Amino acid sequence: MQQENASKPSPWGENVSVEFEDGIAWVSLNRPQRRNAINPGIVWEMNAIMDALEEDERCKVMVVTGSGDSFSAGMDLKEYFRAQDGVPPIQRERLFRANAAWQWRRMMYYPKPTISMVNGWCFGGAFQFLVGSDLAVAAEDATFGLSEINWGIIPAGVVTKAVLQVMSFRDAMYYIMTGETFDGRKAAELKLVNKAVPRDDLREATRELAKTLMGKNPFVLRQAKTACRFTADLSWDQAAEYLMAKSDQTEFRDPENGRNVGMSQFLDEKSFRPGLEGYRRG
Ligand code: COA
Repeated sequence: MQQENASKPSPWGENVSVEFEDGIAWVSLNRPQRRNAINPGIVWEMNAIMDALEEDERCKVMVVTGSGDSFSAGMDLKEYFRAQDGVPPIQRERLFRANAAWQWRRMMYYPKPTISMVNGWCFGGAFQFLVGSDLAVAAEDATFGLSEINWGIIPAGVVTKAVLQVMSFRDAMYYIMTGETFDGRKAAELKLVNKAVPRDDLREATRELAKTLMGKNPFVLRQAKTACRFTADLSWDQAAEYLMAKSDQTEFRDPENGRNVGMSQFLDEKSFRPGLEGYRRG
């Protein structure tokens, strides 16, 4: 596994670690002694890491996970909440904006594919980047919980909005109102993650998913995931207009000219079947 590029200072290392492996950037929240609770250090570091990985050729797919036996215990009650109580509102708001940026605003539209690999505890604020990432794989025995109700707050930031986007209304209400925990298998059933696998297979299953994504045309993949995010909130007529324009933009800007290459391989060469496999690239 390749570690950071020695010629350039890396923005990770203090609260988050990054390892590169065959196109995958494994980004691990790295405060296992605090169950990877999100403190201001993680917030600033994750923003800088997302800047850096955007342009780093070693990263084709970004996987977000946690060190040790926790994905993330949510926001750090001490450092992110209580320590900010006496801080001037303008500074607090800046921190909250920066947190929203990495957890969902940027994550949802990140130019590279993103996968959350849920390896253990996943609470509260962690649901934001879990839903913000494109895809998610969990260990069957990971533990999820919207625990806010247990300590006298509501799932804010955009946690409530995020769970409503992927879970049914009844399920979202149930877990928000009871604070009951559920495991990775249930998370897959609730559509909060794409799949749950035995803990021992988690890394390999995530690696396989990343490899599948790396086999696709990266520009078209970016266009497709962005279109999926935006289309969800559009009317049918708006969606038709937007998707037509997005298709034209994709064809116009795709450096691989994938549409024509794929069509020619299918129609002229009869050398592949797009229903079953990807066209031959490069
Ligand atoms: N904020 C701040 N500190 C946290 C934290 C959080 N969200 N989650 C865990 N920690 C700290 C604990 O205070 C403890 O610190 P200490 O060693 O100084 O006492 C340390 O991490 C280990 O936590 P502990 O509770 O002993 O670990 P555990 O493995 O028995 O339990 C959890 C793990 C995640 C179930 C439990 O820590 C917990 O309930 N955390 C809060 C989860 C939550 O409600 N998050 C929502 C925030 S929006």
